[in-house]
Amino acid sequence: MPKTLLLPLLALAALLVCAAPAAAQDTPKREVLYQHGPQNRYLMGGEWLFRLDTANQGLRQGFHKQTSTAGWTKTTVPNAWNAQDQSVESMRGTVGWYRKDFRLPSRSSRYDWTIRFESVNYRSRVWLNGKPIGSHRGAYIGFEFRIPRSALKRSGVNRLVVRVENVRKTYDLPPSGFTRTSVPTGGWWNYGGILREVYLKRVDRVDFTTVQVLPDLPCRTCAATVNFRVTVRNFSDSGQRVSVAGNFGDRRINLGRASVGPKSFHTFRESIRVSQPRLWSPKSPSLYNVRLRVRAGDRVANRYELKSGIRSIKVVGGKLHLNGLPVNIRGVSLHEDDPQLGFAINNQIRDKFIADARELGATMLRSHYPLHPYFHEQADRYGLLVWSEIPMYAIKTDKLASEIVRKTGANELRENVLANGNHPSIAMWSVGNELSARPGPVQGDYLRRAANQARALDPTRPIAYAVAGYPGAGCQTEYKPLDVIGINEYFGWYPGPNGQIADRTVLSEYLDQVRACYPDKAIMITEFGAEANRHGPVEEKGTYEFQQDFINYHLGVYATKPWLSGALYWTLKEFRVRPEWDGGNPRPQPPIHQKAVIDFQGNRKPGFADLQRHYLATDQYPGQPAAGSSRRR
Ligand code: GCU
Repeated sequence: MPKTLLLPLLALAALLVCAAPAAAQDTPKREVLYQHGPQNRYLMGGEWLFRLDTANQGLRQGFHKQTSTAGWTKTTVPNAWNAQDQSVESMRGTVGWYRKDFRLPSRSSRYDWTIRFESVNYRSRVWLNGKPIGSHRGAYIGFEFRIPRSALKRSGVNRLVVRVENVRKTYDLPPSGFTRTSVPTGGWWNYGGILREVYLKRVDRVDFTTVQVLPDLPCRTCAATVNFRVTVRNFSDSGQRVSVAGNFGDRRINLGRASVGPKSFHTFRESIRVSQPRLWSPKSPSLYNVRLRVRAGDRVANRYELKSGIRSIKVVGGKLHLNGLPVNIRGVSLHEDDPQLGFAINNQIRDKFIADARELGATMLRSHYPLHPYFHEQADRYGLLVWSEIPMYAIKTDKLASEIVRKTGANELRENVLANGNHPSIAMWSVGNELSARPGPVQGDYLRRAANQARALDPTRPIAYAVAGYPGAGCQTEYKPLDVIGINEYFGWYPGPNGQIADRTVLSEYLDQVRACYPDKAIMITEFGAEANRHGPVEEKGTYEFQQDFINYHLGVYATKPWLSGALYWTLKEFRVRPEWDGGNPRPQPPIHQKAVIDFQGNRKPGFADLQRHYLATDQYPGQPAAGSSRRR
């Protein structure tokens, strides 16, 4: 080879070597980003590889079997691959692949292993060492696959590959939709990727699958009953003598023993009475440590930890009661969004959301989907209630008419109850947001189904739903299965159909009309807000001054309605919503939603102080004892 060719070839080879990252492998460490749950979880942190597959050729080209790293780039998980891409294509979605090489934390053949994803948006297919191990649809609730023994390399390097597709389909939650100009719609950015962390879990023959610890408090001064429902699975090929026992605070509990057949499940149930309980409330968030252990034979197979709180949340005489006393909650909504990371946020950012909400004087959080478990733990700890909702978001009746959509929604609610129901912070189960304001039989069927599913699993919490507030909607018999109606009201901001909400002075009368329609249900304001991104005249929409005036006016109206159970501002912090979003602002900055009182970069708008003044001046939990002052009961 002539020397003149050799040099450029060497340079090219060097470039190729650099471009294709070496596949780093590591051994996941015993580490968790949230505490509630089983032991023996190992965080799959460190280095991952990623590649986009916009032409959707990855399956054909065998990305799941590739050994070469060419075409892959280094990344970390959680990850939203389009966190920096605000284009229409990014919102529409595509396919991306993740890959991780790892060694098992133990080579012992006695263990089985599962892999747990906390949230992948939206469709995922998973391979281990080239063998398919599972697929899943839907974000925001964790899911787990058992790794078949035949797919595992006990002493070598294992390769996990995940194909993620975030193109929204008709039957997804939320479903796909397009504007007249073919721009994808949606209430928040369609981030693609493994949006929350991944764990490897070690299983010693038998493990927990679901753990429900539901305290029931019939009255303020009553003894509580704590109901345990614990399902375990025998992963092994032989029958096992299984027993479950543990503690609730300093009380010992024994859930009994059972013979569980190979590859079978068993559910243990037990109730205990707790006399003179320390009650959980936002003013005094007392928690009980709950520890459970499952034994197979005479060996502890695994332990499970959570924090429980004893409190009651009920609707009495058309008002929400906490521990037997009426409440007047003030709160905020949020999206788990960040300018750099998109929805793949970390605990530091979650802490900031919590700190901002607390400083504001908010005692309830709401989101359109189940929050990361760490949020729930912090809410338990700091006494924030959570309006827990599933992404049955603005689904049009023609889509809801498909049985599969209603079924998917009801199942999602069920999953949410099972995944998050142990948190005392969760105050209600919301079946969705702004389906059609005139429900009709199709929506009626969904509401009934979803409410029944949730009540069957958790009779201790009210069932809620957030509706678009329009005077023209009238009274709806389809809302019968609900306990709490949330009103999203934008009077004086959006015009609404036929301009019916353009005038804010009709808000008061409208709210009275809602009360008259549903005298026995608790009514909350689940949304109110005005976009703001600049200083300017108070009468000009989009100015900070307009937003301040809006906040003061609306909270002023709510203060005249003692029957209201609370109000939540929409939102705490700005987030990406969709291309072309204007949100009613004549000078918008799409794709940013700007009704928040903190901008996307973290700066507080003047409206923050207005909201804070009102929130701090409101006695949100009259009569509830404050922490430290708890009387002896
Ligand atoms: C809706 C919806 C929110 C949305 C808001 C708005 O009703 O529930 O997700 O961001 O109103 O228009 O600003």
